[in-house]
Amino acid sequence: MTPKSTTTPPTTNKHLIRWVEKMAELTQPARIQWVDGSQDENTRLCSQLVEVGTFLRLDEKKWPGCFYARSAPNDVARVEDRTFICSLSRDNAGPTNNWEDPYVMRRKLKHLFKGAMRGRTMYVLPFSMGPIGSPMSQIGVQLTDSPYVVVNMRIMARIGAPVFAEIDKGEQRVVPCLHSVGAPLEPGQQDVPWPCNDEKYIVHFPETREIWSYGSGYGGNALLGKKCFALRIASNIARDQGWMAEHMLILGVETPPDAEGRSEKTYIAAAFPSSCGKTNLAMLIPPAGFEGWKVWTVGDDIAWIKPDATGQLRGINPEAGFFGVAPGTSLKTNPNAMAALSRNTIFTNVALTVDADGKPDGGVWWEGMTETPPAQLIDWRGNPWFAKDQAAKDPTAKTPAAHPNGRFTAPASQCPCIDPDWENPEGVPISAFIFGGRRAHTIPLVYQAFNWSAGVYTGATMGSETTAAAGAPVGKVRSDPMAMLPFCGYHMGDYFRHWIKMQRSLTVTPRVFHVNWFRKDASGRFLWPGYSENMRILRWIVDRVHGHVPTRETPIGWIPYFEDIHWEGLDIPKVRLRAIFEQLQQVDPAAWKREVMNHEELFIALHNHLPAEMIYERELLICRL
Ligand code: OXD
Ligand code: MN
Repeated sequence: MTPKSTTTPPTTNKHLIRWVEKMAELTQPARIQWVDGSQDENTRLCSQLVEVGTFLRLDEKKWPGCFYARSAPNDVARVEDRTFICSLSRDNAGPTNNWEDPYVMRRKLKHLFKGAMRGRTMYVLPFSMGPIGSPMSQIGVQLTDSPYVVVNMRIMARIGAPVFAEIDKGEQRVVPCLHSVGAPLEPGQQDVPWPCNDEKYIVHFPETREIWSYGSGYGGNALLGKKCFALRIASNIARDQGWMAEHMLILGVETPPDAEGRSEKTYIAAAFPSSCGKTNLAMLIPPAGFEGWKVWTVGDDIAWIKPDATGQLRGINPEAGFFGVAPGTSLKTNPNAMAALSRNTIFTNVALTVDADGKPDGGVWWEGMTETPPAQLIDWRGNPWFAKDQAAKDPTAKTPAAHPNGRFTAPASQCPCIDPDWENPEGVPISAFIFGGRRAHTIPLVYQAFNWSAGVYTGATMGSETTAAAGAPVGKVRSDPMAMLPFCGYHMGDYFRHWIKMQRSLTVTPRVFHVNWFRKDASGRFLWPGYSENMRILRWIVDRVHGHVPTRETPIGWIPYFEDIHWEGLDIPKVRLRAIFEQLQQVDPAAWKREVMNHEELFIALHNHLPAEMIYERELLICRL
């Protein structure tokens, strides 16, 4: 028997109503709730989450409108090994994605989802990725049995009644997304604060544009608008329709006003793998020496980029919030993020501050938030945590108070440097792309690719050293083309071809750059201070875009002259600066030959789909070296 909706469907779309009924027959929820996205509804859901112990309300003075959640210890991050691209042919998913035959996978999923929502509410959550009504936006409906997901999605996307209205216009295809935490409740069974299942499946059907997610309630596994839709499914839609769905931040660099009060803003999209400071770069505050300059944030994680009628690329941020990594975020490293998360934010898997009796006092903390940690906390697992143990010899006593992947879910509109045009339905003009990774050696601080195809090669061959957060051996270079390795919903070789082809629809080709904030000297010290000082490099990039400065040619691309970087405000003698800069920019042909050999591994894996341009670019690079 199909469960009854507690509310009347606020849509006339027969396909949607029929699909909801069908999925309810399969998953057997106790009730169905159509989400309107209102403040009242959100308040009710948050109170409900407090009642069942998923949420703790934080102190209204310290953290107004904020809640705290602690996940199950086996549900703390995206699960790449449980993520599948189930295209009709294995070849279309490519060797970098997990693949399963869609018929086999559907059978498996139907079995898993059968009765999966018993005892729970199925929320029907309509969402728009991108401003509602923008020609660049896409619509999805997520059915979920997790109220935690509903309240997080309310921050991360535009949801509710206005989206139903958009669906009812019948002009847009809707991406169906089914999500269950996989923890049905039997009659009388007591719920747990973080229901989930050991078995997890994050599944994408690219041809039918569907997402099925089972077993996890955390982040990218469960907030299906983000990685699943805005990258894996959207990359398929974008390839078919001639646009780009990228794992990129978008920022705008604004010059000080000239004598007539006119300033110039240049928008840049930048791709970095996880843990390379994307959110910090997107919200950068220019350092001393840059009086009057401003950096504006359009987005910190995902960009949808399309050529407009004149052949200019324009980008939107499909998200409405930041799902940022909390550890390392502070008033020093990112004051704008701290302001954005100061209210109406959900914190997950960080630590709780305590009063003299060791009881939660309505505050949160994470590593790096302050230089010295509070003496006592309750850690992300709910255990008492003492700062003094971190100095102990016994390594088992040392554990971070916040999980390294602890997160804040904060409304983008609360960010002080949010770009006035961040919700412009037409997007913002993109003049440059930056690729970057975490590399201790070989890769210069900045270089510019010679042209579009060399730029695509630069992105295709980028790599990054793994960090502790990735759970892999630390310091090993992992190739992560365009930072899309875990997020491209089809064959990577075809993805490179799509990038190459995009140029044909452009009248202005964006310039392409590569940066590396993480180069080290012989004794293992970082050569570049990073953070706000990255503004010096952004300014050079903007100068290059507008043709204001010449460059020096090297075998790998164009690099800046020392004189063309704005050094004002740095309290370091010029001779010393010049020496550091030479080290940072050094292009060592022997090291680069080894680097090119490393590109081979990915190219061999992708060989039967690799566009010829990638082979030519590689040959040209070898010749130049
Ligand atoms: C993210 C990621 O969470 O890239 O944004 O992993
Ligand atoms: Mn990301």
